[in-house]
Formats: sequence, C-alpha cells, structure tokens
Amino acid sequence: MATYKPRNILITGAAGFIGCHVANRLVRNYPDYKIVVLDKLDYCSNLKNLNPSKSSPNFKFVAGDIGSADLVNYLLFTESIDTIMHFAAQTHVDISFGNSFEFTKNNIYGTHVLLEACKVTGQIRRFIHVSTDEVYGETEEDAVVGNHEASQLLPSNPYSATKAGAEMLVMAYGRSYGLPVITTRGNNVYGPNQFPEKLIPKFILLAMRGKALPIHGDGSHVRSYLYCEDVAEAFEVILHKGEVGHVYNIGTKKERRVIDVAKDVCKLVSMDPETSIEFVENRPFNDQRYFLDDQKLKNLGWSEQILWEDGLKKTMDWYTKHPDWWGDVSGALLPHPRMLMMPGGRNADSEEPNGTTTPVKGPKLPNSSSNL
Ligand SMILES: NC(=O)c1ccc[n+]([C@@H]2O[C@H](COP(=O)([O-])OP(=O)(O)OC[C@H]3O[C@@H](n4cnc5c(N)ncnc54)[C@H](O)[C@@H]3O)[C@@H](O)[C@H]2O)c1
Repeated sequence: MATYKPRNILITGAAGFIGCHVANRLVRNYPDYKIVVLDKLDYCSNLKNLNPSKSSPNFKFVAGDIGSADLVNYLLFTESIDTIMHFAAQTHVDISFGNSFEFTKNNIYGTHVLLEACKVTGQIRRFIHVSTDEVYGETEEDAVVGNHEASQLLPSNPYSATKAGAEMLVMAYGRSYGLPVITTRGNNVYGPNQFPEKLIPKFILLAMRGKALPIHGDGSHVRSYLYCEDVAEAFEVILHKGEVGHVYNIGTKKERRVIDVAKDVCKLVSMDPETSIEFVENRPFNDQRYFLDDQKLKNLGWSEQILWEDGLKKTMDWYTKHPDWWGDVSGALLPHPRMLMMPGGRNADSEEPNGTTTPVKGPKLPNSSSNL
C-alpha cells in the first residue's frame, strides 16, 4: 500500500474539538509538515485548544470563515496547500432543530466554497472530508450488522441532512473534476476540549456542580463513543493510507445507552444516579442507534486503544483541572440548547437566572430567520 506524504495541510475547524486533537497530533508527530488551521472561532471553539502547537514553527492559525472564497483561495495559493482536512461545521443536532439555515450555510455552502477553491487552484492532492455516522440515519435496534460504507444515506435531522448534502458535493467534485477526495463517517467522539453542549462534557460539568443530569426521553437511546486520541490516530492513518475515492467509517462496536453514560458519570463523582438523573422532553426526533461496520478502517491498520472506563476518567480529570475553559457555559448546559448562542447566553428554552437546569415543558422553536 503506497503511503501518501503531504507537505502543507489546511485543517478547517481545528479550534474545535476533534480538529484540535488532529492538528496538535500532526504538528507534534510531523515537524516536516506545515499545518495551517482555518477556523472562524465560533461559540464552541477555543484557541487554547491549539496551545500545544502555538509555538511550533510548522504551525499557523488563521481566523476566518470557510465560506469566504477570497480568503480560501488566498490561503491555498500563499501557503501552497496540497492537502485539506475539513472538520469545520455546525455540529450540534439539538441546535439544528432551531436555526437550521446556519447548518446549510456552514456545512453545505462552506464545503462547496472549499471544493471550488480546490478546483480553481488545481493543486490539491488530498481532500479529506469529515462526515458523520448520522448520515446513515438510525440503525434498527435488533440489527447485528452495522452500516458499511456503501449503505444508503438516510439522514433524519437537519444536522445530518446538511452533512449528507456536503458529502454529495464532495463526491461530485471527485467525479466531475477528479479532485482526490476521501470521506470519513465517524461515531460519537468524547474527551478533553469538547464544548459542553455535547452529552458527556455536559454531564461531567453538571455533575461537578452537583446538578441533575438531564436525559432526553427515557435514556434508552444507544450511542457508540470513541476517545478523541483514538479518533485523531484514525485521521493520521487515513491521511497516509486512505485510498482516494473511498469512504471510511470510524467506528466502534461498543455501544452504550445514554442512561448508562449518565450512571457512569455519577459513579465517578460518587453521586446517586437514582436522585441525580432527570428525564426531560425528548428531541423532535432522536435516532435510536447508530451502528457502524468498522472493518475497512481496521484493514488500514487502525484499532481502538482506549477503554471506555479509562477514557471517561481522563476526560473527567481534564474538566476538573479546566472547569472554566470556555468561561460561562451555563447556556450550553441547558437540557435543550436550541439557538446558536454565546456561552452563558439566553436561549429559547426555559432558563433560570442562576443557570440551573429544569425539565423543559415543551419544545419552543425559535424564529428560524435566515441570514444566508
Ligand atoms: N463530535 C462528534 O462526536 C463527531 C462525530 C462524527 C463526526 N463529527 C464531525 O467532525 C467535525 C468536527 O466536529 P467537532 O465535534 O470537533 O465540532 P466542534 O463544534 O467542536 O468544532 C467545529 C469547529 O468548526 C469551526 N467552524 C464552524 N463553522 C465554520 C466556518 N464556516 N468557517 C470556519 N470555521 C468554522 C468552529 O469555530 C469550531 O471550531 C464536524 O464536521 C462534525 O460533523 C463529529
């Protein structure tokens, strides 16, 4: 198997969660690669996520939007970019039930701008597009075989629909213009540096504050979680060994119910799950399960290394050491953050002045006016 050797990599969205682990890893492991991060520093990002790389000579950060064709063209030319790893996106399913036009704008239009810049500059040797398991839609509860890379895409929420839409454009630019594209579809990721609107850091921060952990619906929904370092390694493998034109699932066979995740977090802080978990209104639609066939990536030599118990403990330790990484995140800790909001900002759902969480009475959708 031939190994690809990039020179100058543009990583979009790497002031966010997964991208920062990938960027920091590549900067550390490959001093001969230049890593340029482009991120618009949205509410969920944090420049400190890139602290391990900031003084490295092979690292550069640019604040900006992937939707700006001028900026993207300029960067590709001036930095002689030959490889793109595209993580930037609006990523929170719950928020996509509110202002989903932002998801179309960033996830589909933003990806389109990047692809067009690749076409115009004609210098890209790899475009790694980061997609999600959610594009397959939900897996039957009793299915024993996971979705493989050729399975049909049946997204069921606005977030996953925009991720599937972006994938279609990536595929089309591969076919029409011969752009060397690779797509990944990953299970849920957890670990340090994840903005606490997502389930695991939200539970951890609430537990650290002695507050109840809100569960959407009855907690029977099943998710598969990979630790961020395992996922960063998967991207390192795909970058070097992935085949152009292929899709790779980044998955784990280990699944757990949301209620069990909450119980495991309670256990770590010695809280009684019986009194510390509260059941709140479910999402408008909540996929029961995402189950992936992960064999194709394993064939490239990757395998999951970090056990759930160890990963959760490391994650808890990190949040304990860095309780204020994003400042005031009380708005993100609500059971259903629906608006694109600044940490601590008000949103459409019930919110008490002191930021405590309460079960919501019913879904109240915000005005979805577009600024497309
Ligand atoms: N987190 C998961 O469990 C998971 C699982 C599978 C796939 N994914 C995919 O992985 C990617 C990264 O996810 P994450 O959890 O790290 O997300 P995140 O929300 O933590 O970070 C996203 C980053 O993208 C940036 N961004 C958003 N729109 C931008 C734009 N228009 N221009 C420039 N920067 C922009 C944000 O500022 C932020 O830093 C996403 O594409 C997501 O769909 C995530």
